[in-house]
Formats: sequence, structure tokens, C-alpha cells
Amino acid sequence: MKSIRNLYLSALVLLLFSCSGQQGTTVGSTPEVEKRVEKLLSQMTLAEKIGQMNQVSAGGEVGNYADALRKGQIGSILNEVDPVKLNEFQRLAVEESRLGIPLLVGRDVIHGFHTIFPIPLGLAATFDPALVEEGARVAASEATAQGVRWTFSPMLDIARDPRWGRIAEGSGEDTYLDARMGEAMVRGYQGTSLDSTSMAACVKHFVGYGAAEGGRDYNSTFLTERQLRNVYLPPFEAAIKAGAMTLMTSFNDNDGVPSTANAFVVKDVLRGEWGFDGLVVTDWDSMGEMIDHGFGEDRKDVAEKAVNAGVDMDMMTFGFLSHLEELVKNGAVSRKSIDNAVRNILRVKVMLGLFEHPYVDVEAAKAVQYAPEHLASAQKSVEESVILLKNSGVLPLKGGQRILVTGPMADAPHDQLGTWVFDGEKAHTVTPLKALQELFPGKVDYVPGLTFSRDKRNNFFDVMAAARRADVVLVFLGEEAILSGEAHSLADLNLKGSQSELLAALKATGKPVVATVMAGRPLTIERDLPNVDAMLYSFHPGTMGGPALANILFGKVNPSGKTPITFLRTVGQAPMYYSHNNTGRPYRGETLLDDIPAEAGQTSLGNTSYYLDYGAYPLFPFGYGLSYTTFAYSGIGLDKEVYKADDTITVTFTLANTGKYDGTEVAQVYIRDLVGSITRPVKELKAFERVSLKAGESRTLTVKIPVQELAFVGLDGVKKVEAGDFQLWVAGDSASGEALSFKVQ
Ligand code: BGC
Repeated sequence: MKSIRNLYLSALVLLLFSCSGQQGTTVGSTPEVEKRVEKLLSQMTLAEKIGQMNQVSAGGEVGNYADALRKGQIGSILNEVDPVKLNEFQRLAVEESRLGIPLLVGRDVIHGFHTIFPIPLGLAATFDPALVEEGARVAASEATAQGVRWTFSPMLDIARDPRWGRIAEGSGEDTYLDARMGEAMVRGYQGTSLDSTSMAACVKHFVGYGAAEGGRDYNSTFLTERQLRNVYLPPFEAAIKAGAMTLMTSFNDNDGVPSTANAFVVKDVLRGEWGFDGLVVTDWDSMGEMIDHGFGEDRKDVAEKAVNAGVDMDMMTFGFLSHLEELVKNGAVSRKSIDNAVRNILRVKVMLGLFEHPYVDVEAAKAVQYAPEHLASAQKSVEESVILLKNSGVLPLKGGQRILVTGPMADAPHDQLGTWVFDGEKAHTVTPLKALQELFPGKVDYVPGLTFSRDKRNNFFDVMAAARRADVVLVFLGEEAILSGEAHSLADLNLKGSQSELLAALKATGKPVVATVMAGRPLTIERDLPNVDAMLYSFHPGTMGGPALANILFGKVNPSGKTPITFLRTVGQAPMYYSHNNTGRPYRGETLLDDIPAEAGQTSLGNTSYYLDYGAYPLFPFGYGLSYTTFAYSGIGLDKEVYKADDTITVTFTLANTGKYDGTEVAQVYIRDLVGSITRPVKELKAFERVSLKAGESRTLTVKIPVQELAFVGLDGVKKVEAGDFQLWVAGDSASGEALSFKVQ
């Protein structure tokens, strides 16, 4: 949310965005909102102000909280979604407290409320911000109908280590893609103008949380200011420009400073540089955890540090409630800081219209959940997110064959929903088995082989016998939902249990084997690829995974998803990402382990940066994904050879569908700044476009990239475009294409 003083600037930006074809947002404060906030503030006691800064997880009976609500000691609750209870909570706050300030009701609505969409990493694989925005709108309409007006989403943490379980909750490794997805989710949750279906977005976790050392959740990060500014902060800045009303601080300490007390990122960057006057909430007890970090002595100490760093609301430490009054009275925290925090909270409540409409219609709320159009949107999201990784001609399948369905994820209604789902019910999930049985009655045999992904059973006679009777084997593998997400990091990324053994047994039958992997992260599947004729990768797909996958397997939908994250050959390669800097010794294809003679003499001469055992490349690069058809790029050209810093680069190219099926390609534009005041990434994504083409059709396309998109924070600490030579690629993934050259003056 932009500050009031930036309102007119926002309007101008909005106008510019709409002119350039991007959708802006009309979310922003107004003088009337500010007047109401100030009036309320002037009527509040210090205790009532501090009460607004307190957020409580509201389990159990509403009556347990009645006294605190009447006294104005709770500003927000989370984790209650029963609309009857929520109306009662609001009634106590609105009708029985002195000032009648409504509650802000929060919930983790991460990839859908009841109708569950693919996990965010899967949504990112669509490279389709408009569809992602639509999904967030669906989530908002279901959640707000029940009284939830604040979601703790989108998670904008750049994640480059698939061991980190929360990689599932974000958009992957790339700053540009993450920013586009974040803006889309903000627009979807909040709507282009605020009304009773608007759910305030909360961009999280600020900041650097995804860079946890070793991929172990909650771990320390050591990001320099330049890395923060060039890689980790831009998605947050973009989402805030798109109107995000709230932000959450993260659990990690960066270079020794826990985010919840990091005045540099919260006060200087977020508030100062970006003019954010929305609500900043801590993560769950992240204030209290500063005591464990060794950054504060007790709850009083950490409360002082958090509020003085610019935090407005405490989620579940209760440190503000118990200590802020004393801290204000002894001068450790100023009244001005408290007033600013409360302003930020009240502003969100006023803008959401909570004072006018604190209650929901319980009957109407029921009708909205799992609405047919919501399920259709969820299905389309899966259809666009599934990535075809291998196809030796077996896909798409023809109907009429005898099918064996097997594997632990074929009929796993809970697990295909993915991580951090609190409201989606497995009874509504359509699994691949269910969808296939409906499509081909009497033609589908089902022998699970393994009952869950960690199942270590090693006898597959029943599955093999069934495979021999079938024309084709569809095996559904992957991870249970609980193996990814918060606090669920892994040190080994191979398929768990006996899944690889099951694949090998199926391969031994000689029948065509088509594998679909459903997981919360990119698993290391290199050893499994030789055992399949085709492989689809579907990050946990949510409620409608089954019908979407059936449509893809049988060619009703042509896969178009692209990897939003590098797929590693082995976990020891982590972290590996496409936009790395060049070393002084870039890889040139060197001697691998088995080619080194015994007792070879040690030398580093001529050697480059790689692993002796795994070389320098991943299994699949960022942006990769096959189709049932083929695409060819030609005639790639730029409108100029030399650009000025305020120019726009116009890239023109022809994309042809050269195969036999209609299909959709995600055309990607990458740029490299060859020489900078600091070393620059070997490639950076700067634009992408989904293009649908009929078989045999070709189209000439134009992509515009403002030269300002090439700006970065260089040696002098200032963000700007540096003059010099650049290269540009247009291709279907980050490892393909021929470079074109241009200059910036
Ligand atoms: C997570 C947040 C989440 C919060 C509330 C924390 O454990 O880190 O992402 O929003 O819980 O459920």
C-alpha cells in the first residue's frame, strides 16, 4: 500500500501500466481513509492502541476471548474460519468494546481456500500471471465469504536450494518470475478495487528466508546488501507497488540480525525507500524467537527491538501486550512509534470496509465453496502447470487401451493437495485414478504397489502381473504432502521408499511406462528417467489434479508448463541456478572422475569450475519443458544496435509450431550484461510470453523491454543501468538459443 503522499504518483504509475498493457491496481489510501484513522486514533487510550497491535490464534470457544475482546486487547485473530464463530468474534469486538473496532481475520490461504490450486511452485510453472491472478481471486472469494479478510500470501522468498521444504510455497529461483507471480497474486487476492471480496495480501517472509544455510528451515542467512537489492528484494518491491497491503517479517537472522528487528530492511528500505505504509506483522512468535537467537534477553527486550525496527503487529509472542505500555512509559519506545503502528493497522481495516461490513452471511458462504467455476479454474491451472520432461513418443495416449494405474500418488486425495492446506478437504479431491476410471469405465486396473511415498515394500509381483495384462502402465509417484513445506527440509531428494524399485520392476515387464511425479519440490529423478517412456512432472496439483492429468495424458490438453526451478542431477549440486555469476574459470567440459588415471599428478592448470563426478550442468535447466508438438524460433532481431538508458528494447521473432499438435510455448527472453562494475549473472530472465499456435502455424511476435529493466545495484551502491555490451537470447528455456548483441550508451 503506497502512502497517501504517493497517491498521485501511484495514479500516474497506474496510468503508465495500463498504457503498457499490464494491469495495475486501484488499491490505495485516500484522504477520507486517513481522516477516519486519525479520528479513531485520537479517541484511543495507550492500552487500546497496544491491543490493536496484538494478534491471537483463536482456537476453541469464542467465549475464551470475550473478555480480551471487550477490553480491546486483540486487533487480529488467525486460524478460525467458522463463519458462525467469526461473526460472534466480530460482534464482541464491534458491539461490546468501547470503540467498536472490528477484528482483522487472517489465515494461511496459500494456494486456494477450499478449492485447492497447485502449490505456488506449480503455479509458477504456468508462466501465466493472468491465470495465477484468477486463482487468487477464487481463493479470495471463498475465504472472504466465510469472514477471512487477510491471507498470509504470497510467499516471495527466492529459493535456490530444493532441500528447503518451503520451496513449495514460492515461485522458485528467479527474481523476475517471482515478481510477476507476486504482483498477480496481490491483484487477485485484493481485487483491482477493494470490496467485500477483497482479502488483504501479506507478502512474506521479509527477507532472505529462502536462502537458509544448507536448505535447513529457519536457518541463518548471510546475504549482502547488494544481493538483497539485486535478487531478494525486487519481488517484494514489485508486489508492494502492485498494492500489497501488508507484509510479514521472516524467521531468519541475516548476517546476525533477525528480520523482526531489522531496522535496515523494515524502516530504511520498506518504509523509507518504498514509502510503504501498510501493516507489518511478525511471523509466528518470530519476536519471541529472537530470545533463542540470542538477540534479546527477554520478551520485553525483543518487543522493544521489534517495535523500534518498524513492526506493527505481534503474531503470537504477546510481547507487545505484556510490555509495550511499560516501554512507552519509560521512554524506550516513543508514543509516535505506537501511533504509526496503529495507523497502519487501522488503515487496513478501514480500507477493507470492515467497519461497515464486519459480518458475513453464513448461508451464502456455503454456496461459494467449490463452485463449478472455481474447480474449472483450478483444473486449468494444473493443465498449464504440468511439465513434460521426457517423451519417447508414447504420449499422448490413445483411448481404448487397457490401462494399469499404479503408484502411491495415483489415489492419494490428501497428498495431492500439497503442503500448507488447512481448509481444502480431501473428500473433494479428484485423483488421477478417479478421473481415469470415469473416462474409461471398465478399462482401468488399479494395483497401487506402494501405499504411500515412503512405503519400503519390495515385492512387486502383483503389479508386474497386472502390467503384463495391460497395454500401458500409468504410474503416479512423488512425495506425500508432509515431506515438503515449513520445517520439512530433506537432505536426500531421491524418490522415497521403494518407488525407484517399483519403476524398475515395471520397466522389466517391457510395457510402455508413463510416470507422473507429484511433489513439493524438484526431486532428483535422473536415475528414474531411463525406466520410463515418458515423464510428467506435476508439483502437488490440488483438488483437480486428476482430470487435468487425464486430459494431458490423453492429449486433450498439450502440456505447456516450464520448470520454475533448476532440476538437479544429484542433491550435492545444490544450490545450482541458471542466473549465477561467471567464475574466472567457466566450465569448458573437463575430465570426469572415471577418466582420471590412477595416481594422476595434482594440477589446477587449465581446470575450471565443475564437479569431478557430476560435471557442471543440471538435469533440466530453468524454463525447460517439452510439448507434444515442436516449436522453432527464427528471425530474432532487435530494433536498434545501440540503446539509451531511457529507451525500450523491441525484440521481434517468429515462433513456429512445427509439429502435429496445437500447442502453447512459453517464449523467454534472457539478457546478459557482459561487463559491469560488479560481476553480473550469465543470464537473467527479462520477459516471457505464453503463445498458443495451431499445428503448422507461425506468428511474428514483439516483446518490449525497457532498458531500465537492466538496472542493478553496482559497486557504488546505486541502482542504475551501466553502459556497455549486452547479449540477448529468445528461447524456450534458459540453456538454449543463439546470442544477439547490443549496446547501451
Ligand atoms: C509461517 C508463516 C505463516 C504463519 C501463520 C508460520 O509458521 O512461517 O508463513 O503465515 O505461521 O500460520
